[in-house]
Amino acid sequence: MPKLKVTGGNLLSGTIEISGAKNSAVALLPAALLCKTKSTIFKVPKIRDIEYLLKILKVLNCDYNVIEDEIIIDTTNLKNAPIPEELSEQMRASYYFMGTLLSRFKHVEISFPGGCVIGARPIDLHIKGFEALGAKVELIRNKYIIHAEKLIGTRIYLDFASVGATINLMLAATGAEGETIIENAAREPEIVNVASFLISMGCKITGAGTSTIIIEGNKEIDNGVTEVFPDRIEAATYVILGALAGDNLTIKGLIKDHINAILIKLKDVGVEFTANETEITLSKCQNPKATNITTQVYPGFPTDAQQPFTVLLTQAKGESTITETIYESRYISAGLLKEMGANTTSSGNILKVIGKTPLHGAELYVPDLRGGAALLLAGLIADGETILDNISLILRGYEDIVEKLTNVGAKIEIIE
Ligand code: UD1
Repeated sequence: MPKLKVTGGNLLSGTIEISGAKNSAVALLPAALLCKTKSTIFKVPKIRDIEYLLKILKVLNCDYNVIEDEIIIDTTNLKNAPIPEELSEQMRASYYFMGTLLSRFKHVEISFPGGCVIGARPIDLHIKGFEALGAKVELIRNKYIIHAEKLIGTRIYLDFASVGATINLMLAATGAEGETIIENAAREPEIVNVASFLISMGCKITGAGTSTIIIEGNKEIDNGVTEVFPDRIEAATYVILGALAGDNLTIKGLIKDHINAILIKLKDVGVEFTANETEITLSKCQNPKATNITTQVYPGFPTDAQQPFTVLLTQAKGESTITETIYESRYISAGLLKEMGANTTSSGNILKVIGKTPLHGAELYVPDLRGGAALLLAGLIADGETILDNISLILRGYEDIVEKLTNVGAKIEIIE
């Protein structure tokens, strides 16, 4: 199994260009199945999750053509088929095939989706929503069988503003008779990205990006086209890296508004940067200050950025806290940072970080995608060498991470 060798201590200069967002792209590919013939998605990141989604498209007899970062998907020969567990378990987003196949065929067979182990992660809100639209859902030994004679638009209230449930129900509702209203919908940019793709196909959707989304179903749908939004979590990760080890490091091709909550926290900590709407330039913050962070749904501080941000807090003088409100178990990487010299303790959903602590290299096993990114950032500022095992989890979500970091002066290589 390949590992990542990171030698810390270099300051990083130059430009890192942000890729298309993993969490948008993994919803857009399944959404393309709603088109009768072709659709085109630009700026698709080359990451492991996309490779697996393309394998699922093959199972569904769907043709596609990948030209650099553009994917043209042709569903002319699309056939509904059970999605095998060895593919669906590779990522959480495989659940989006529930919404699209239900919309298009009124029948889906798929095993329970996978994803990072960061808490219980039930999909009850998706299932309740499908049922509200008129589907019957059976769970037989880890496999969902979802069937509907027809779907009928309705009013759905989400108990929690779940990203996955909002997108999945929006997808399913495109195949329902009449109007579906999703209340307490998630407002993340990924939802706007998917809605704009669906609208380009001919779907009638209003309110994406707000808490109430209205979908009028059963429209003529074809010829979708969209570009994947820049990855706000990748952008946040590299901006935090700039605060840790930048020397005029520029992060380019992002949407500043999408990472506003992180930029506000960086200012709290004392990080200075120059920014326009699409790029940010910054250098290492010499004396970061402690702060308190609570993760929230968008536009609040994203849970996916708290793990990389923790590394910055290890360099801040005093006691910082993170209160995680989205997932119940997302401090594994913070625990591993202790092996590099950090002073972190977690109790329930609260993490305490006491700084400033110098970090030193260690051999660590990557526990999850964003936790892996955090360990990598720590390795880049640590004394000596850090060896990260189980790096496929990092490669799941960060396109060309080794090349991007090497290009700005990081000493990082994949070793066997
Ligand atoms: C998505 C992102 C993930 C990010 C998360 C929150 C993808 C592929 N993944 O995950 O990177 O961390 O948003 O921004 O886009 N919940 C339920 N029942 C449900 C659905 C969710 O209880 O039916 C709970 C979850 O267990 C979790 C919370 O709601 O505690 C947030 O989940 P959700 O917003 O759905 O996240 P995901 O779509 O899984």
